[in-house]
Amino acid sequence: MKNLKTFLMCACLLTAVSISALAQEKSLYERLGGEAAISAVVDDFAGRVLADTRINKKFADSDPTRLVTNLKSFMCMATGGGCKYEGLSMKDSHKNMGVTGGEFGALVEDLVATLDKFKVPEKEKNELLGALGGMKGDIVEVESNATGTPLPKKFKPAPAMGSKEDMKAKAKMEKKSKKKDN
Ligand code: HEM
Repeated sequence: MKNLKTFLMCACLLTAVSISALAQEKSLYERLGGEAAISAVVDDFAGRVLADTRINKKFADSDPTRLVTNLKSFMCMATGGGCKYEGLSMKDSHKNMGVTGGEFGALVEDLVATLDKFKVPEKEKNELLGALGGMKGDIVEVESNATGTPLPKKFKPAPAMGSKEDMKAKAKMEKKSKKKDN
């Protein structure tokens, strides 16, 4: 009986300690350094991607302002920063782009180079890469190690940020989400 009491007390104590440890664990967003750090990381990363001949053909028709702005809010949302991401889903934004597995790997290498430059600790780096790795299935359309493949003619870029077409698409999305909420 005494042994059982001691066991239960220890179990309760352990549970309390692990709950408070969990509560204290900051979001990945906070551990990366918040808005300013993520913004600097995305700027450096975008520069590397656009200069990388293994993948930069894919960006030829896209609006760089939209890309960088949406990438920042996406990273914030994906790391638990609570930002509102207003871009397309990963499947829709990369549809008909013909991204290969090799090109996905090249982009990840560019991100690792940026994270290393900013001295992001191994734990946070692996968490971020793990989260992004889970999106591979929505982005890669061609199972090949090839890189530098052309942008297919059928790819239709998203409207430039602030353009009439962009405003229309946003209004449509808002209407849809309001309808869903009601
Ligand atoms: C986990 C990896 C990736 C993530 C998280 C990601 C994220 C994003 C985001 C958030 C956007 C903005 C969508 C919008 O504005 O509506 C975007 C657009 C884009 N991404 Fe990616 N991406 C990834 C991998 C790749 C790869 C491997 C390539 C090509 C090699 C690529 C090429 C592009 C291009 C060209 C656009 C602009 C699309 C357009 O103009 O409509 N992305 N991506």
